[in-house]
Amino acid sequence: MSERPKLLRVLAGEALSPPPIWIMRQAGRYLPEYRKLRSTAGSFLRLCLTPELAAEVTLQPIKRFDFAAAILFSDILVVPYALGQEVAFLEGQGPVLGLLRDADQLDVDGLRTRLAPVFETVRLARRSLAGETALIGFCGAPWTVATYMVAGRGTADQLPARRMAIEAPARMQALIDVLIEASSRYLLGQIEAGADAVKIFDICTGVLDNEGFERWAVAPVRAIVERVKAAAPHVPVIAFPKGGGARLAGYAEKTGVSAVAIDWTMPMQMARDVIAAPTALQGNLDPLRVVVGGEALDQGVDAILRAMHGRAHIFNLGHGITPETPVENVERLVARVRRRR
Ligand code: CP3
Repeated sequence: MSERPKLLRVLAGEALSPPPIWIMRQAGRYLPEYRKLRSTAGSFLRLCLTPELAAEVTLQPIKRFDFAAAILFSDILVVPYALGQEVAFLEGQGPVLGLLRDADQLDVDGLRTRLAPVFETVRLARRSLAGETALIGFCGAPWTVATYMVAGRGTADQLPARRMAIEAPARMQALIDVLIEASSRYLLGQIEAGADAVKIFDICTGVLDNEGFERWAVAPVRAIVERVKAAAPHVPVIAFPKGGGARLAGYAEKTGVSAVAIDWTMPMQMARDVIAAPTALQGNLDPLRVVVGGEALDQGVDAILRAMHGRAHIFNLGHGITPETPVENVERLVARVRRRR
């Protein structure tokens, strides 16, 4: 019998010392073994849709750092791809998407087939992982994915999507509704294939006004959680409403998530005050402290550990690790978190 993953114990509300640690974008360009595999794998989308390679990348950071969780190697934009919108990742430019179709032209029923390789990646990765290492599946939140589908690329302050949400709310709602259905099916496919927990990445919520936050960030995440819970009641859901700030008060109750990931701008003590136990908290070291390393890194880690003592906490960064991060600094981070009891 293997030990129950610590990550799942914390997601059930238990406080562990030291806290389990994993890192957003932990399989990525800061790792030489990722860069090596990436250079021979063809396009980024092809890598995401080649199960043997995607599973290998998923496991790379576990082999090196023995993190408490692996996260499926894929991207949030495979959902628009599966719905029939063109998606390409251009070198040095990031993602570029084709023209947005009307919601009724998006092919929700094709998703299972088109994303079958991702489900296979989950199966392969789960089979290779030790029992005490959790496997996290994920999707982008409807609002965040919609910002890319509407603008066709990443945009400053997500102006095109925000404008549509205010000017043509019925059109935005129709798109969001398709994404709720598609994302729910996508997460349930990952769970069926062996994901132990799932995470919804909503990194574009900071630009929404209060009404927009309720309608486009809270309601769609609640709708996905309801669908996931109906079919897989035991699987915890983590949400990352980046930029949520003061509006995180009430967010967990309204959405039904088991854990909230906190970005680096919010003091963890404040997150702890506004998000009631047993909801677990994840976060929230500034990724730049890991780039810089040394004292800046140690102080950041220690402040978070102090603030979270006695609370269900998963140590993580406040957003993804960046490509220029020295691997030695990640080693230092992991050792610093683990030496605490
Ligand atoms: O966390 C993980 O390690 C799992 C894999 C993962 C990736 N992207 C791999 C990836 C996850 C969870 C994501 C999420 C994602 N993707 C988000 C939301 C949260 C976040 O991390 O920011 C968003 C907005 C995207 C869309 C996306 N994908 C962008 C804007 C880019 C280009 C930016 C860049 O760094 O080039 C990607 C590409 C991408 N997704 C890479 C990786 C490792 C780099 C591509 C490469 O290796 O060539």
